[in-house]
Amino acid sequence: MKLLVCGGAGFIGSNFIHYYLSKYPEREVVNFDKLTYAGNLDNLKDIENNPRYQFVQGDIIDLEKINETIKKYGITHLINFAAETHVDRSIHGGLKDFVLTNTLGVQMLLDAVRINNLEKMVNVSTDEVYGALHLDSPDKFSESTPINPNMPYAAAKAGGDLMCHAYYVTHKVPVVVTHCSNNYGSYQYPEKLIPFFVMRLMKNEKVPMYGDGLYVRDWIHVMDHASALDLLLEKGEAGGVYNIGVDNERSNMEITHMILKMMSKDESSIEYVQDRPGHDRRYAIDSTKILSLGWKPDYSRDKFEQGLKETVDWYLSHLDWVEKIWAKKDDINNHIK
Ligand SMILES: NC(=O)c1ccc[n+]([C@@H]2O[C@H](COP(=O)([O-])OP(=O)(O)OC[C@H]3O[C@@H](n4cnc5c(N)ncnc54)[C@H](O)[C@@H]3O)[C@@H](O)[C@H]2O)c1
Repeated sequence: MKLLVCGGAGFIGSNFIHYYLSKYPEREVVNFDKLTYAGNLDNLKDIENNPRYQFVQGDIIDLEKINETIKKYGITHLINFAAETHVDRSIHGGLKDFVLTNTLGVQMLLDAVRINNLEKMVNVSTDEVYGALHLDSPDKFSESTPINPNMPYAAAKAGGDLMCHAYYVTHKVPVVVTHCSNNYGSYQYPEKLIPFFVMRLMKNEKVPMYGDGLYVRDWIHVMDHASALDLLLEKGEAGGVYNIGVDNERSNMEITHMILKMMSKDESSIEYVQDRPGHDRRYAIDSTKILSLGWKPDYSRDKFEQGLKETVDWYLSHLDWVEKIWAKKDDINNHIK
């Protein structure tokens, strides 16, 4: 297996590359990434000279460059993390890039898989494509829940997922689609809740809480997401959709209080701000299907506090990484409305 990782310089992609290279000491990966504001080669600094790792700067909508890379490195499998991922940016401008990368980009990758007869593609997508659940309902998203995205980001991701379905049915392209819940862990760009709040608190700044803070997400450790994707590269059924989550529903308010405690801060560090328009209330994932393949996540719900503490400690102890990325704080703050 020779793997092309698209979007490997971002949060989940870089964690996946670390996971994959250490799990398979004989395998090689090629990271194909455009290096948008969210792409960060510092996430991969420790392996930049590893002979089993190559980096190619490129855009997934550039089919010629993808084909050239696949041929040059003898690629057999592809996993796609490349995406515009920040919901607030998709609401307050720049939506065109979301549609280009998250929908058209996926179509280009499907063409590349078809043209080059690759053995498998995994398209990493999100539970947000299913829309929202009520706060106090027992419902969860299953693979048969209808796609019903509310956020422009999620609609662009759903476009990519539907392309995967159509290419499987029409061209028998061997593609697997995943819908994962919110990830936490190291190397996350600090426009997302956990690293954003940790970095603001490190700088003695207040953290902005949207609305009443009772927005529930199903939080998974990024390394558990990586192990699920690795399993699906091996065992995922072509044309299949798999939900990935660990039954760990937490509200933004609950997570914020946990972080405040871990960083010896109190409630006075919270600033209540105007809510995100159309904010989805709750996401929850039914992972029965992937669990039946033998997936065993390390950080179950009862280990969340430990995983969150390790994550907070990672940011507190990687000050060079934090300071370099926090230099972009004006741009980051500008996109939190
Ligand atoms: N972060 C989460 O909690 C979460 C949850 C579920 C699913 N996902 C999905 O996982 C994937 C990765 O998310 P992330 O949080 O690591 O994102 P991220 O924003 O941290 O990284 C995205 C990466 O994609 C690259 N990229 C963007 N446009 C590109 C293009 N046109 N061509 C090539 N590279 C491009 C960026 O440079 C960056 O390295 C996304 O598809 C996202 O929808 C994320």
